[in-house]
Amino acid sequence: MRPSTTAQLAAAHRAYHLQHDRPPLLEDTAAAWLLGPPLDVILRVPALRWLFWRPLLAKVRPISVFVVVRSRYTEDALELAIRDHCRQYVILGAGLDSWALRHDNAEVTVFELDRPVTQQWKAARIQARLGALPRRLVLVPIDFEREVVADVLPGFGFDRESRTFVSWLGTICYLTQAAIEATFASLAGVCAPGSRVVFDYFQPKSTMSPADLQLFEELDAGGTRRGEPMQTLLEPEQMAGILRSAGLSVVEDLPASEIRRRYLDGRSDGLDIPGFVRLCCAERERAA
Ligand SMILES: C[S@@+](CC[C@H](N)C(=O)[O-])C[C@H]1O[C@@H](n2cnc3c(N)ncnc32)[C@H](O)[C@@H]1O
Repeated sequence: MRPSTTAQLAAAHRAYHLQHDRPPLLEDTAAAWLLGPPLDVILRVPALRWLFWRPLLAKVRPISVFVVVRSRYTEDALELAIRDHCRQYVILGAGLDSWALRHDNAEVTVFELDRPVTQQWKAARIQARLGALPRRLVLVPIDFEREVVADVLPGFGFDRESRTFVSWLGTICYLTQAAIEATFASLAGVCAPGSRVVFDYFQPKSTMSPADLQLFEELDAGGTRRGEPMQTLLEPEQMAGILRSAGLSVVEDLPASEIRRRYLDGRSDGLDIPGFVRLCCAERERAA
């Protein structure tokens, strides 16, 4: 097994955004150096960027923008949670997420969950650049298809009694519905009441416009070629049912129109996202 290519591409989209779009929606200053070769070189050298990155970007630009927007949404919500004294951050399917690297001074313990091969690759990139991992970053290996978070987190110093903020970005669509349901149920079991989880998911193909369908097929074909096929698309009602059964209540479940209104309206560069994406925030129910 090799490190996740979709994780590397997501970091490349964040790095490209910071290089090119003004004003940036997110300042992921670590994405470019985390990437490693060949993507870091491709993004840095104009001729290579022109040859290899722009043709890919032209096909998937709205998803590239969404990768940035979903992180911005998450980091905004995380900041509010931290102001409200939350001190544990769990990142499911962390990939090359760099929040822990950019907030080494925050008194927040960050648990990054992902497949071991991707974690080892990322840890080597961090060690090569910084000499060591951030002191409050804990790497927790998992395969969501075989294990649930409650099996692994307690062995790494996770405090079940403390309110926790959880993010799960760009990963749900790559998992089976059984793994998604089991993960939400397990999260609700292991996180203290009032804990929140923020995540994105895609709506079914039957709801997509022709342009979105073409974009989705492009993405899906790319993921399949790289050994990361998409597995699950969900209607908002299905997602609400999964969350309810897990003991989580929906705080908000934003359609593309509301995400655009919050983050993209008023920009002069025409950045846009696909119509099939959703951003959701759910809360572990508090005792009555
Ligand atoms: C598209 S990347 C998103 C990474 C990151 N959240 C971001 O937004 O940049 C999906 C991540 O999910 C992880 N992943 C996919 N399936 C997994 C599984 N069954 N168990 C653990 N991690 C998985 C991949 O290794 C990858 O890092």
